Amino acid sequence: MKLADNKATLSFSNGKPSVELPVYQGNIGPDVIDIRKLYGQTGMFTYDPGFLSTASCQSAITYIDGDKGELLYRGYPIEQLATQCDFLETCHLLLYGDLPNAAKKVEFTQRVTMHTMVNEQMQFFLRGFRRDAHPMAVLTGLIGALSAFYHDSTDINNPEHREIAAIRLIAKLPTLVAMAYKYGIGQPYMYPRNDLSYSGNFLRMMFGTPCEDYKVNPVLERALDRIFVLHADHEQNASTSTVRLCGSSGTNPFAAIAAGVACLWGPAHGGANEACLNMLEDIQRQGGIAKVGEYMEQVKDKNSGVRLMGFGHRVYKNYDPRAKLMQETCKEVLAELGLEKDPLFKLAMAVEKIAVEDDYFVQRKLYPNVDFYSGIVQRAIGIPVNLFTGIFALARTVGWIAQLNEMISDPEYKIGRPRQLYTGSPRRDVPPMAKR
Ligand code: SDX
Repeated sequence: MKLADNKATLSFSNGKPSVELPVYQGNIGPDVIDIRKLYGQTGMFTYDPGFLSTASCQSAITYIDGDKGELLYRGYPIEQLATQCDFLETCHLLLYGDLPNAAKKVEFTQRVTMHTMVNEQMQFFLRGFRRDAHPMAVLTGLIGALSAFYHDSTDINNPEHREIAAIRLIAKLPTLVAMAYKYGIGQPYMYPRNDLSYSGNFLRMMFGTPCEDYKVNPVLERALDRIFVLHADHEQNASTSTVRLCGSSGTNPFAAIAAGVACLWGPAHGGANEACLNMLEDIQRQGGIAKVGEYMEQVKDKNSGVRLMGFGHRVYKNYDPRAKLMQETCKEVLAELGLEKDPLFKLAMAVEKIAVEDDYFVQRKLYPNVDFYSGIVQRAIGIPVNLFTGIFALARTVGWIAQLNEMISDPEYKIGRPRQLYTGSPRRDVPPMAKR
């Protein structure tokens, strides 16, 4: 980051001496006011619950312009990556800073392929769960459990260890997500195949059985690969910030990624795709497009607590570029499967049309986000609703580990330790029991 010519001066109306704060510039996007010395100079903290105006770190990985609806991975626009590259090329880009050439792509693919199996003991963790356990509960456990197999071989301060941990996580997530699915439906696990693509391998582990050969549908394979690209990273969102904060204590990367999975599960974050599809199915059950107006009234009624899931975003105050690409993928998959008349897709398009023209949404700059169409295309592929967020976690793992490794490789990084505004009781003595 570069020191700007500009400086910030903080002055106080009560006569306390003013404070001069340096301003730093990134390569693109907002400048930052460096407040690291503020507490030492003023005895005061800043206050920013939800971090609406706070840059928690400097990063060179992903850039978002919320007003323009722009998303860049290492400078490349998501629209170009999603149509010209595949997920493993995107993983290479996020991890190492550039797209692989043909030779490097073969080498990286080979490395990932050689780590897709998990230790045979992993299957016994699954047996501890009920068959109807939510897959995100299972995945939080399984990914945390990976620590038990690699904890002693992961010195996070060793760049090679950090890199192999990244490869292991990228390689094993599809295997673990498919295992969680198979466990839930009582089918045998399918071992990964080294002769299939990353997303083709995942499709076979999900939908193949030992009873017959599984033929990968290239349209579904490409669609799933694009879904992974669209979800790979997204700046300092809640789960990425969780991974950074967790990893800042020096814990092993598997434990830190498990923390990210737990955070992503929430309906305000990665759980929104599951919540969005459930919402569309509810509206469909209540009467479909004819009922959308009534539903919108509930959404606009503050007391209802009802939100239009898949809409709105902390950063995007314009159309989420991923939503447009997801809608296109949706159309391709539905056409391939002869589901162009899928009532849920038609309903989603009707909801979007109504919402983007409605003053409540226009005023609040609420647009479809990545989760609005992703559920419909995943459901069409055959992925169960309660596994949607598991697919999101599979894809986001590369972003989480790239961000974690970026933080740890910065010699200046410290353990994250925010402060607070205390509004509790001043000091008081414990009364004897008779006086309580
Ligand atoms: C993801 O951060 C990331 O980058 C996340 C993500 C990623 O890739 O990592 O992009 C993935 O999490 C996408 C978002 C998925 N979540 C949802 O679709 C759930 C529904 N959306 C929201 O709950 C909400 O929009 C958030 C949580 C996404 C953003 O919330 P903010 O920025 O905290 O905004 P807010 O809650 O303060 O809302 C501002 C106003 C409020 O109304 P007023 O108080 O001003 O009257 O907009 C309203 C909100 O009530 N609002 C909505 C709404 N989202 C915001 N009203 C109805 N429906 C919605 N979906």
